[in-house]
Amino acid sequence: MKKKLALLTMAAVMAFSLAACGSTTTDGGGAADAGTSDVANKDKPLVWFNRQPSNSSTGELDMTALNFNEDTYYVGFDANQGAELQGTMVRDYIEANIDKIDRNGDGVIGYVLAIGDIGHNDSIARTRGVRSALGTGVEAGGNVNSDPIGTNTDGSASAVQDGTIEVNGTTYTVRELASQEMKNSAGATWDAATAGNAIGTWSSSFGDQIDIVVSNNDGMGMSMFNAWSKDEGVPTFGYDANADAVAAIAEGYGGTISQHADVQAYLTLRVLRNALDGVDVDTGIGTADEAGNVLSEDVYVYNADERSYYALNVAVTSENYQDFTDSTKVYEPVSKQLDESASPVKKVWLNIYNASDNFLSSTYQPLLENYDDLLNLDVEYIGGDGQTESNITNRLGNPGQYDAFAINMVKTDNAASYTSILSQ
Ligand code: BGC
Repeated sequence: MKKKLALLTMAAVMAFSLAACGSTTTDGGGAADAGTSDVANKDKPLVWFNRQPSNSSTGELDMTALNFNEDTYYVGFDANQGAELQGTMVRDYIEANIDKIDRNGDGVIGYVLAIGDIGHNDSIARTRGVRSALGTGVEAGGNVNSDPIGTNTDGSASAVQDGTIEVNGTTYTVRELASQEMKNSAGATWDAATAGNAIGTWSSSFGDQIDIVVSNNDGMGMSMFNAWSKDEGVPTFGYDANADAVAAIAEGYGGTISQHADVQAYLTLRVLRNALDGVDVDTGIGTADEAGNVLSEDVYVYNADERSYYALNVAVTSENYQDFTDSTKVYEPVSKQLDESASPVKKVWLNIYNASDNFLSSTYQPLLENYDDLLNLDVEYIGGDGQTESNITNRLGNPGQYDAFAINMVKTDNAASYTSILSQ
């Protein structure tokens, strides 16, 4: 009894001195509670993901946004390595199927290309990758021109040229018959429905010339496949390795690229977790954490100057697609639960630029939701309309409620729309 009383008295004294301490802080709130820390919003960890802060015309990185504070990073994937893989995948397919690829036997291997967003580095890289591999690219300002061409059935467009591919001593002509940015009338880019309509228009006027369909992503690729190329037996290539696209490989979809979304989703939340725990940013990334989570060098690279983590890409074709059927499965080497005593629950605000983006909503967000539990992060997911930044920033009205932020902009130039709110 006596002992109990003594303990109670001690607890009362401690509570009193804690309250006294609290009264010296501005809000008097408990610093350990999720989302109620008294860290200024401008000093909270911030990760940009999937759309790298950059100039949408020149591609130049927005280093101000990437250095917003000392806990700011970007997480994406290696766009050039992936673009090269996609181009090579298409070229390899042509070479392996040269006997049957030219459907109308006119001696020209024709392809059409769906472009996602002409102001998005990743989309630009993929357009260049395909044109480079097929010999259809022309130089513009030291780089391969990535402009859409409209239609080019006669080979007269100036933003592309006719390429050639030599197989077994015979030279074949390759032509980009048409390409278009798939933007809908409301302004949403990477728009799958627009791509479905485009293939309808293209196929009705020059369908027999189309031997291959290429797309900057699977969302648009699958829309074209389902609308036309599946029934016609025309190989269609995309990017992302969304589950429906991987499954479609069994039905003639030509192939896709995995941008290792399982690694990216982990990195997106992991860099925030590390900053919140005050540990080295490499923890659980290049250096194993206490639970044993670690990534090997073959799945990502870190570029310190760019403050950017880039996952590496893998081609998914009829030869290996069986290994990629579950696109929302966590990556096993980083699937171990963190201990809550060392990594207590924290609140994160996270947005997806367009709630209807196939890749982000069907692959990336489900992965984030799997990792947030493992990393003890309580994430609030906000889905935008893909058109205006304000549709999203309006829902960042009270940043003080969160410990960290993960941002996916509508337009890569618009980082300041977010950082200005955090700086207030
Ligand atoms: C994906 C696209 C997606 C875009 C959104 C790209 O990395 O490949 O499918 O629409 O990100 O920003």
